Amino acid sequence: MNTPESATKESAVTQEASLTINDHEYKLPTTIGTEKEVGIDIAKLRAASGCITLDPGYGNTGSCKSAITFIDGEKGILRYRGYPIEQLAKQSNFTEVAQLLIWGELPDKGQNDRFSELLKDNALIHENLKHHFQGFPSTAHPMAILSSMINALSCYYGDHFSPDINGDTSKSLKLVSALLISKIRTIAAFSYKMGRGEPFRYPDPRRDYSANFLHMMFSMPHDRYEASPTISRALDMIFTLHADHEQNCSTSTVRMVGSSGANLFASISAGVCSLWGPLHGGANMAVIKMLEKVHTGGKDIDEYVKLAKDKNSDVKLMGFGHRVYKNFDPRATLLREACDEVFKELNIKDPLLDIARKLEDVARSDSYFVDRNLYPNVDFYSGIILRALGVPVNLFTVLFAIGRLPGWIAHWRESYLEGGRISRPRQIYTGETVRDYIPMAKR
Ligand code: SDX
Repeated sequence: MNTPESATKESAVTQEASLTINDHEYKLPTTIGTEKEVGIDIAKLRAASGCITLDPGYGNTGSCKSAITFIDGEKGILRYRGYPIEQLAKQSNFTEVAQLLIWGELPDKGQNDRFSELLKDNALIHENLKHHFQGFPSTAHPMAILSSMINALSCYYGDHFSPDINGDTSKSLKLVSALLISKIRTIAAFSYKMGRGEPFRYPDPRRDYSANFLHMMFSMPHDRYEASPTISRALDMIFTLHADHEQNCSTSTVRMVGSSGANLFASISAGVCSLWGPLHGGANMAVIKMLEKVHTGGKDIDEYVKLAKDKNSDVKLMGFGHRVYKNFDPRATLLREACDEVFKELNIKDPLLDIARKLEDVARSDSYFVDRNLYPNVDFYSGIILRALGVPVNLFTVLFAIGRLPGWIAHWRESYLEGGRISRPRQIYTGETVRDYIPMAKR
């Protein structure tokens, strides 16, 4: 495996920016990234001026430098370690992409074989952990189970991640990365089986990553599930498309939690909780619920679009819009194409796909969406494919988490190697100014 490279290529420091506050000019250094993005470094602004910047939702604020993923939202570009997502989705596979994201380079055959061995050797969870599932009601949300179980893993495997005598953590981080990437799949499948009251199916070391997951999900004692190459390939591509997306809400959460020195398991568990929200990874479930509402006649497409445009309604066109992409989300384009392949291979039709296509056409010709650069994002079509693969809706965001895990690990590792400061944003206080305590008798 590649030796730990410096987390980011040192970017050039260029001409300064200047900021004038109360007739005083402050010079601020700037940093230019390898794709010519310019960051104004305000690390010393408060000490110099007493001022901080304010940017609710961090829409204009960089929290770090990173060499993992590049997104150009205006051009619809997404690259993992410089490789275009379109090439990786079509020519690579999820476990190879996981190694690329975490360690920075595509693995050679030997490296890939060793990582595959680690995945195989670490697919089981400790037998005691199986009893945790009995503690959840059958209706428990799989994301609640996933975040709990990932944290619980640290009680059994937490000491696996420790520096060697020279302080080098690369070997143990490789083991723990493989352990998490392998076991998250087992936990997800076991939570599905627990919900259905079916016996757990153990991982089959002869199957590749995605086929093994489908086996653990759908095989029964009397009937082994054999995923067709198209189905397991489609799932593998879905994992690849979700593998990283720079400083999104859940990845920033993982970095934030890791910055306190919290271990990788705790940081990932926090990332799972963040991803759960319907504005983030939970959107893939919300899209299907939206399409089903239209399909069952709850609302017709025009009515739904009207509601999504109405500021007084809390309805949004789920699966549409993105903080960064102000053009198409390249992952949505790839997933839209994959829908056709999977449906053709399975020789199935899904009315929700027709509704999704119509909804996309209506929104793309409506000035409300066009003027706000609202296009389908990764969540708009992913759910339709997962449905075709037989995955239940309440497991969609769990599958997003399985895909995103390598990205979370890559960012946790990048931040860990940099040994940066604990993340601790400031605020502008708008509450009461100082006042004296009033004893109860006098209130
Ligand atoms: C993911 O960050 C990532 O990279 C995330 C992700 C990843 O891989 O990690 O890509 C995965 O989370 C994709 C997004 C999934 N979420 C959804 O599909 C939920 C629906 N989308 C919206 O909630 C919204 O578009 C967000 C949350 C995705 C982005 O929110 P922003 O950047 O805060 O945008 P905004 O709310 O400021 O919207 C700007 C305008 C507003 O209208 P105005 O105030 O200008 O009149 O667009 C409107 C919004 O009301 N708008 C929508 C809309 N999305 C934005 N109106 C209707 N339907 C929508 N979906």
